[in-house]
Amino acid sequence: MLEPQGHSLPLPAPGAQLQLQPVFPVALAQVQLRPDPLDLAVQLQALHAWRGSASSNPDPGCAWTGDLNGVWQLQREAVFAPLIAELVLQAHNYLEQLGFDRRQVALHVQRCWPVLSEPGQVVGRHHHPNAHLSAVYYLSGDGSGRCGCLRFWPRHQLNELVPGMAVGHGGPLRDSAWTQPWVDVAPRAGLLVLFPACLDHAVLANEAEDELRVSISLDLVLTAAREADPPPEYLAPHPAHWHPV
Ligand SMILES: [Fe+2]
Repeated sequence: MLEPQGHSLPLPAPGAQLQLQPVFPVALAQVQLRPDPLDLAVQLQALHAWRGSASSNPDPGCAWTGDLNGVWQLQREAVFAPLIAELVLQAHNYLEQLGFDRRQVALHVQRCWPVLSEPGQVVGRHHHPNAHLSAVYYLSGDGSGRCGCLRFWPRHQLNELVPGMAVGHGGPLRDSAWTQPWVDVAPRAGLLVLFPACLDHAVLANEAEDELRVSISLDLVLTAAREADPPPEYLAPHPAHWHPV
């Protein structure tokens, strides 16, 4: 049986003021990589070629996404393979910081696809139910958020006490760090963002009139390591042991 894992909160000092403590945090990771300008130009050229004459998904207000248009395995493309390998290293780093033993888990790229967002286009709120860990890497953006921030919502707003009140509208619950309804991340070329795949997110409208917003999404899946025999019960066995029927 697994030992219960957790932490005891420290006892407050006698007579101290009431203190709120942040518990159960979500691990949202960011790292700013330095894309080679020539590599970046070649990658952008390839993405334009794959998108072809399409410009939306197909609703004109929705960004073009490769996963719905046959471009969902970028890690197998020579133009992107070295970049994706670098991003996966960062994903391993994320898992290690979360507490995973790298020797016991295998990480798999399940899908990897581009998202091209023309001025005015968005990607609606969603999460990635088939994956465990998701990542976004930006090929454009200056950090201002003009081309459309990535917005995250918590799965539950436990601190609202009365559900729905954190959305504002002048209610009795004022905005504070404890009732933050969402968090925005501004795209910047070379920025990688990692987050649990179950976390709801969306891409806000590209408000840069003359700028195409370009990113790559990755869905990653954890399984037991290939050598694990038998694999631990809480992880799927490595796909090398799967048997199609
Ligand atoms: Fe997504």
